[in-house]
Amino acid sequence: MKRSNQSFVHRFFFNPFKVFLVIVLCIFLPALIIAQDTKAKTPSGSKKISPDLFGLFFEDINYSADGGLYAELVQNRSFEYSPTDRREWNPFSFWQYITPGYSYGSVSVETSEPVHPNNPHYVVLNVEHVGDSGVGFRNSGFDHIAIKKGDKYSLSLFARQLSADPITLSVILRGTKGELLTADKFSISSSNWKKYTISLTASEGSDSASLEILATTKGKLALDVISLFPEKTFMNRPNGLRADLAQMLADIKPAFIRFPGGCLTHGDGLGNMYRWKNTIGPVEQRIEQKNIWGYHQTAGLGYFEYFQFCEDIGAKPLPVLPAAVSCQNSGGTWRIGGTGQKAIPMNEMTDYIQEVLDLIEWANGPVSSAWGAKRAEAGHPAPFNLEYIGIGNEDKITPEFEQRFKMIYDAVKVKHPEITVIGTVGPMPAGEDYTKGWKLANELHLPVVDEHYYSAPEWFISHQYRYDDYTRNATQVYVGEYASWGNKLRNAICEAAYMTSLERNGDVVRMTSYAPLLAKKGFTQWNPDMIYFDNATISPTVNYHVQKMFSTNRGDLYFENVIVKDNKDSTLAGSCVRDSKSGDVILKLVNASDQIKTMKINLSGFKNIIPGAEKTELTGSPEAANTLDNPQRIIPVNSTFTVSKNFNYTIPSMSLTVIRIKTHK
Ligand code: AHR
Repeated sequence: MKRSNQSFVHRFFFNPFKVFLVIVLCIFLPALIIAQDTKAKTPSGSKKISPDLFGLFFEDINYSADGGLYAELVQNRSFEYSPTDRREWNPFSFWQYITPGYSYGSVSVETSEPVHPNNPHYVVLNVEHVGDSGVGFRNSGFDHIAIKKGDKYSLSLFARQLSADPITLSVILRGTKGELLTADKFSISSSNWKKYTISLTASEGSDSASLEILATTKGKLALDVISLFPEKTFMNRPNGLRADLAQMLADIKPAFIRFPGGCLTHGDGLGNMYRWKNTIGPVEQRIEQKNIWGYHQTAGLGYFEYFQFCEDIGAKPLPVLPAAVSCQNSGGTWRIGGTGQKAIPMNEMTDYIQEVLDLIEWANGPVSSAWGAKRAEAGHPAPFNLEYIGIGNEDKITPEFEQRFKMIYDAVKVKHPEITVIGTVGPMPAGEDYTKGWKLANELHLPVVDEHYYSAPEWFISHQYRYDDYTRNATQVYVGEYASWGNKLRNAICEAAYMTSLERNGDVVRMTSYAPLLAKKGFTQWNPDMIYFDNATISPTVNYHVQKMFSTNRGDLYFENVIVKDNKDSTLAGSCVRDSKSGDVILKLVNASDQIKTMKINLSGFKNIIPGAEKTELTGSPEAANTLDNPQRIIPVNSTFTVSKNFNYTIPSMSLTVIRIKTHK
């Protein structure tokens, strides 16, 4: 009686078996439902692919850093240019001594008691007669200076008073015809090196301005590191990046950025290797050097700035360090060859390996570690979360290389098993270094190797199956440098066709980056490049748009059997991926021919798609290209597109189409 009077809830929850049943159902039923649901929504033939597939490769080639991405507007700010950079250059190159208004005096380059021993040269100005406007010098930047009306510019310099009285310095920005854009003055009154900074606001703009520094008091002073930066750098970082160029890179949303090269990494002889420690700390203490591409590196854009930029745009940093050997083309060029590879002597390898390990500590170590403390000193106490490190670039696979590479790799593996080391397999998609490099990679069970190839657009069409036969669950591939020979739409669309094959093989191809990235008009050592620029304008090539369309539409699951096309037609290519975070299903459809064609799309395996999709299309004349005069000639066009379970897609000639389909969660 008592029992029957109890409520159902009471009876239910006081029965241990039933409670057990409820618990079991609560735990397993949702899992079962989810499992069934996922199965229903995922068509057969799906595989996981690398989320890091599309990134960027930045090398200081074509004035990409100094005069390019690095926002410094003064050329040779530290008077460190020399004939080593280029035979006709010297410490006063790109400076012009000026004595306007009947003034006179003298200028000399000195080296005793410099600002810092790493930065040995500076100038001494001796003003004998001030005249109307003083004695000084002019700098016209990197092919002039672009100044925007209303913008603020930060001028800084190191100065030391060498005569009895303080000296007044005028700083003036002038336009092409000498017109005044802005000016200010300040007094140099310290007999020790001291940094002076002032902010200038441009009342007028000019694309071809120059900076004048004039001493307007009789006397003698020393000057060094004369720098002019726009205050509006990318994300307003001090010592930062040119905002418009950096934004264009950020817009690609790259998964990673490889830096600083390229051939620049392993250098023109052992003395010219890119040594990361020379590029951190206060800019006046960094060690400048010749750039292998025939100019000068200030190292103003150094490792701290590279890592900061990566963090700012959500890209993983991928520093590449020399494999303790120099470029095999040292003393010559990649076209004509050189004197051969030189290797760091064995008795210096312990120090060199430590340099590699120190980088990992600098990037990831706690502030209490020696190198982590230096990162914190530079303003970044939090770790940079370094995951990847490249060792070597296109090196000749010699016994000397192999021995040193193994030593570095073993040391990193032991001390930092969390770091993924990327090896190198020469400059070609096949051949001796490729074969030897892969053999070494297999022997060492390297996680990833870096393949490079530049070729005709047809090569990219005919090699779309290159990675289909690569061994799975072994060493993965980073296609660290690739491009078809040109910036016409035909080139970019052939690259797009190839990129769908990289997605298809995204289980073995882990990362890719087009190369080179940036090129300054009139200062280009290598064509084609992804983005051309001058001081005021930027021209993203059609190849840029293709890269951006892929990178901003990355997925982590690849689906076979969604796109049905004529397999005998190699000019048609396509891929279907899903981005797990958003749940979006993304189609990339390529037609690299001159005729309109059709593909069948079968989305029936996805039960939860929303028909209203976003479409982005890049198409035009195969021979068309974007230029600095007409940077918008070919750009992607966005529209909406309605998808159904099965549909035929008519794909324009010479085109890449991305269809991004949202799904119900
Ligand atoms: O991307 C230009 C050059 O090509 C790179 O510096 C080098 O790695 C390759 O040969």
